[in-house]
This record gives sequence, structure tokens and C-alpha cells, in this order.
Amino acid sequence: MLDRFGRNIDYLRVSVTDRCNLRCVYCLPAEGIQLKQHQDMLSYEELERVIRVFTEFGIKRVRVTGGEPLVRRGIIPFLAKVVAMKGVEDVAITTNGVLLEAAAPDLWNAGVRRLNISLDTLKPERFREITRFGDLNRVRQGIDKVLSLGFGPVKLNVVLLRGTNDDEVGDFARWTREVPLHIRFIELMPLGEGHLWSASRFVSAGEIKDRLATEFTLNRVSEVYGGGPARYYQIPGGKGTIGFITAMSQHFCQFCNRVRLTADGKINPCLASPLEVDLATPMRSGASDGELRELIRMAVLIKPAEHHLESDAQVTLRQMSKIGG
Ligand code: GTP
Ligand code: 5AD
Ligand code: SF4
Repeated sequence: MLDRFGRNIDYLRVSVTDRCNLRCVYCLPAEGIQLKQHQDMLSYEELERVIRVFTEFGIKRVRVTGGEPLVRRGIIPFLAKVVAMKGVEDVAITTNGVLLEAAAPDLWNAGVRRLNISLDTLKPERFREITRFGDLNRVRQGIDKVLSLGFGPVKLNVVLLRGTNDDEVGDFARWTREVPLHIRFIELMPLGEGHLWSASRFVSAGEIKDRLATEFTLNRVSEVYGGGPARYYQIPGGKGTIGFITAMSQHFCQFCNRVRLTADGKINPCLASPLEVDLATPMRSGASDGELRELIRMAVLIKPAEHHLESDAQVTLRQMSKIGG
């Protein structure tokens, strides 16, 4: 479906839970997180219905996110149903990788072939600091497992934090020589806790690219399969690639192809906007598919032209764990 600015919206990101088994410092506070009640979350049946109605608008790609999607019980059969859905050509998940080693064979059997894994450091002690208590080893084992099973493309999300992990960009880049991983360096956005961190910790992707270019030859590659905003480069002969997601320094809003569904059933037409269209309430009061279609149409039509994250204070209240990045 085309929005008001002629952008073709064919990508739906579905957050299946606001819960997470980590507490990344730039994402969630240490405590005092207000979680949704279980009954406020859409059931899998409700999620399937919404996705099906979305496919009638030409949604072809579905990315399942969280919080951490693998913590929700019953996620594997749900994914298998989305994979089998008419009109859905691509199903992926974004995960922090903690539960991935055990889940990988089931994900594969459900028909999922590509994953994005959040990993900001290769140092165990730092990983514990950034995630507050996470065990890096489990994520590394999860990555090894999905690569050995043949998932691909497997992408890694590295949120850049000055003074915390910006000294590791070379190590990440070097890794792509040997393994078919697509490492994406992401600019920190002032959303949720990121709001408190972004002023002092922001590092631009351009700075990192310049720094890497002094050590490696970086050839632009046109595409790594997916629907996202990263721009990719490759070290000659490398098995993987190095990508940059310039959410702040050079935003990609004019090419935006996506809308989001929160775990409690609200369509969020833009990551960086407080606009929401509630589907859960009408659905639970007996709305027909036709009525849901109208609400979806409205959500796409109010999708803003671009974000103003640099200056817009109100949107910073949004938590990434509730909208799934
Ligand atoms: P694929 O290319 O399909 O693999 O997806 P992706 O790269 O969009 O997925 P992923 O969940 O890994 O998202 C990576 C990061 O890109 C997110 O965590 C955000 O930081 C950023 N991002 C994704 N979508 C948007 C968006 O609509 N707006 C902005 N500003 N940033 C986004
Ligand atoms: N800015 C940029 N990326 C973020 N993520 C979480 N919070 C932020 C933020 N403030 C990323 C996570 C994960 C993805 C879903 O969103 O690292 O990879
Ligand atoms: Fe969990 Fe992802 Fe937020 Fe980290 S960034 S706390 S892994 S939702």
C-alpha cells in the first residue's frame, strides 16, 4: 500500500512481547519497568488475524521482534503459521540471542531462515555491563549454532556507544572476513533510555566508517537480502559484510517501507512518532475484517514524512523494548 508520500509499505514489524531477558542500559532502566498485563497482549490468534489483514494491503515481509521474542511461550508454532501465510514471502526475527542455541533447530523447522541478533560487544565483562547481567557465551553459542544450521543472512546489530564499544569496531569488522555475518553498526537513537545516553555517547556511523577505512578496504555491496535501511560494504574476499544504519546522521525516512504492531495491538506508523492506532479494542469488541482494514488504512495514511528525533522531546518517551526497534 502506498502512503501519502508515495512510499510502498510492504514490511510489518510485529512485537510479540514487551518482556526481555536482558536490560541493555540504553534500552531499559534497571528496575521499575511497567509491563503490560498478559491479557492486554494480543493472543497468537489475534496476531495471525491482524497479519492476515495486513497481507491484503500488500505486506510481504514480516519481522517478529520484542522485547525478546523467544521468551514468549508458543512462539515457534506461531512463526510456522506466519511462514505458511498466503502473501507472506519473508519471515525474520530480531533476537538478543540468549535463547537462540536451544531454539535454533525449532526455528529452522518452523521455516525461519534469517535472523538479526543484537550484540554490542565481543568482551564478556562488557557484555555484562551493557546488558546488566547477560552471558556473552550463550549469544556466541547461539550465533555458532545458527551459522552451522545454515541460516542466512544472519545479521548482527551493534549499537555504537562512545567510550563503551567504539574501540571494538575493528574486531567486529575483522570477524566478517572469516564468517558469513553481516555486522551492522547502528547509531544510537534518543528513544527510551537512549534519550539519557545519546548526547554524550553518540557516535556517527560516518566516523566509524572513516576509521575502518584506514585499516580495511571497504567495497560497497549493493544488497544483503532484507528490507532494512542498512548500507553494506565488504572487505575484499570477506565472507560477511559491514553495514551502517545511519538513523540519526543521514536518516532514511524517504525510503521507509514499514509499519509496526505493538504487543498490545497498536499500529505504530513510525518508530519515532507517538502516533498509534489501536486495533486491540475494536477487535475485542467484534470489529469485522473490513473495519480492521479501515484502521490499517488510516494508520498508513498518518505515517509521518520523517522523524525529528534531534529535536522532538515527546517521542523520546517511547521505549524500544515496546516497539521492537
Ligand atoms: P532487515 O534488513 O530486514 O534485516 O531488517 P532491519 O535491519 O530493519 O531489522 P532490525 O530489526 O535488525 O533493525 C535494525 C535497526 O535499524 C533497528 O534496531 C533500528 O535501530 C533501525 N531501524 C529499523 N527500522 C527503522 C525505522 O523505521 N526508523 C529508524 N529510524 N530506524 C530503524
Ligand atoms: N538506538 C538504536 N538502536 C537501539 N536498539 C535498542 N535501543 C536503541 C536505540 N536507542 C536496537 C537494539 C536491537 C534493535 C532491535 O534495536 O540493539 O538490535
Ligand atoms: Fe532487551 Fe533488546 Fe532492549 Fe537489550 S535492546 S534490553 S535485548 S529489548
